[in-house]
Amino acid sequence: MEEISIGIAQKLTSPNPFGLVSSTKPDGSTNLMAISWWTYASNHPATILICLSNKGYTGECIRTSKEFGLSIVSESLAAAAFQCGTCSGRDRDKALEFGIELVPGKSINAKLVADSRITFECQVEAHYPASDHTIFVGTVQHIFADQNKKALYAVNGYGALKAVG
Ligand SMILES: Cc1cc2nc3c(=O)[nH]c(=O)nc-3n(C[C@H](O)[C@H](O)[C@H](O)COP(=O)(O)O)c2cc1C
Repeated sequence: MEEISIGIAQKLTSPNPFGLVSSTKPDGSTNLMAISWWTYASNHPATILICLSNKGYTGECIRTSKEFGLSIVSESLAAAAFQCGTCSGRDRDKALEFGIELVPGKSINAKLVADSRITFECQVEAHYPASDHTIFVGTVQHIFADQNKKALYAVNGYGALKAVG
């Protein structure tokens, strides 16, 4: 064994399940952000955690709106979804620019990605500082699925997206 950095460890422990986080911007439109640091945290009530860099715009939006969507997008959106992880929604509309169709949620204002294997609608229960990231705890309000679609996984850390299954 050799001692390694956290970045190399993240590459060696990938793939991670991948999704797009939806949040509502002050003008009411939906921002999309690529995420691979999310996990289930509780069953009753159903709870998921998302871990967001403090440099990104999504955390700011979610602190205000206290809700978010998580879309486990279909493999056909791999290229467009990856792009959502390469730029900020502060001054652009990623869904429009990258041709990602959005649909209204049942219980949140942020829209979800239409072409998804699963969508989660969450209310923010709490958020906790984690050094250069913030952990948002989301109580799941609704989950929808289309089991015929394949999910994407982030491989080589954040390096690329691949379908599995
Ligand atoms: C495959 C992939 C996975 C990513 N996972 C995360 C993540 O889990 N947490 C995070 O803070 N940023 C992650 N990012 C980076 C953000 O998506 C990126 O910083 C994005 O530009 C933030 O957008 P925003 O400023 O509109 O919030 C990921 C990027 C890619 C390409």
